[in-house]
Amino acid sequence: MHDGHPSTVTAAVWLFGYGSLIYKVDFEFLERRPAQLHGWARRFWQGSHDHRGTPDAPGRVATLVREPGAVCRGVAYRITPSVFTHLDHREKNGYVRMADTVEFDDGSRASCVVYVADPGNEAWLGPASDRSIAEHIAASRGPSGSNREYLLRLAQALRELDAHDPHVFDLERALLDRSRR
Ligand code: BEZ
Repeated sequence: MHDGHPSTVTAAVWLFGYGSLIYKVDFEFLERRPAQLHGWARRFWQGSHDHRGTPDAPGRVATLVREPGAVCRGVAYRITPSVFTHLDHREKNGYVRMADTVEFDDGSRASCVVYVADPGNEAWLGPASDRSIAEHIAASRGPSGSNREYLLRLAQALRELDAHDPHVFDLERALLDRSRR
């Protein structure tokens, strides 16, 4: 893309989304493609102080952790860099932008940017049993809505992408089983 000024050419970049970016698309994009990232696993190990919880009672949301051989299914958006101003604010709770390589369904690859919350960031919660994570999610709510809705919408979006993600689907089952008890 060109903003009309001869010295400023702003190239579009691919952004890989694996959490709320899959289903909450409140930003402009040029193209949207199902895609995957190799070597990363999606985990509900990050606290949410600002969306699905509060500073006193953080919710639990997805981040990526490095896992050799893992494949994380998601969606890639081709965006102009100006979109990062909005997303950096939206995802400011411990996430940083990282560079990686995304793989599309036709096998082609491209450089991408992905938001990751690393272990040790101020909102990090880390692993716990499925049951404990499901209890935590059931009890949490923040300015963006319930933590339950976040998990259920993500699980539904992943089914629509034909994603195989036992971590998310096991948590969904644990949450729904809990509601039936
Ligand atoms: C995502 O959906 O890719 C995402 C999740 C958490 C923070 C930023 C992005």
